[in-house]
Amino acid sequence: MADIIELIYEDHDWFRRHFFYLDDASTDEELAAVWEPLAIRLDTHAEAEETVFYPVLLKQGRAGDPEDETEDAITDHNAIRDAVREAGNHRVGTSEWFEAVGKARTENGKHLDEEEREALPDFIKSTSAEMRHELAMKWLRFYHQHPAGKGVDTSDKDPDDYVEENS
Ligand SMILES: [Fe+2]
Repeated sequence: MADIIELIYEDHDWFRRHFFYLDDASTDEELAAVWEPLAIRLDTHAEAEETVFYPVLLKQGRAGDPEDETEDAITDHNAIRDAVREAGNHRVGTSEWFEAVGKARTENGKHLDEEEREALPDFIKSTSAEMRHELAMKWLRFYHQHPAGKGVDTSDKDPDDYVEENS
């Protein structure tokens, strides 16, 4: 069976590794080659989680505080989206670009740690293997429907409204 937790964790590993690759890039072309796919996947991953994962956590989570976990996630996703958007406003390799990418890295690192400590364990303890499989299939369909970030909603969401609409 497929597993939503594995798919999310796989992206988390991929993000950490690609932020690390930025330190190995020595030309603007190399920086762009690492950053551009990373920026697209950060936005795609955030919306995939908001579409597939958090609505179910909100309804079924009972091993933690799903409302609090979700509010934190949406707030963090907004901060990551803001930094990705800001990086897109600057030429790769400029000091403004490095600053925005550094912000994305810091915000994303904090977010992944918190999600792996709170939301993912709550989900694991509160749902079944069948649900994890069902959401994994929805996740794969979401990525298939948004190749290279096409059609991904990169706008920020109000955390309270999101919780209310999805509870
Ligand atoms: Fe997330």
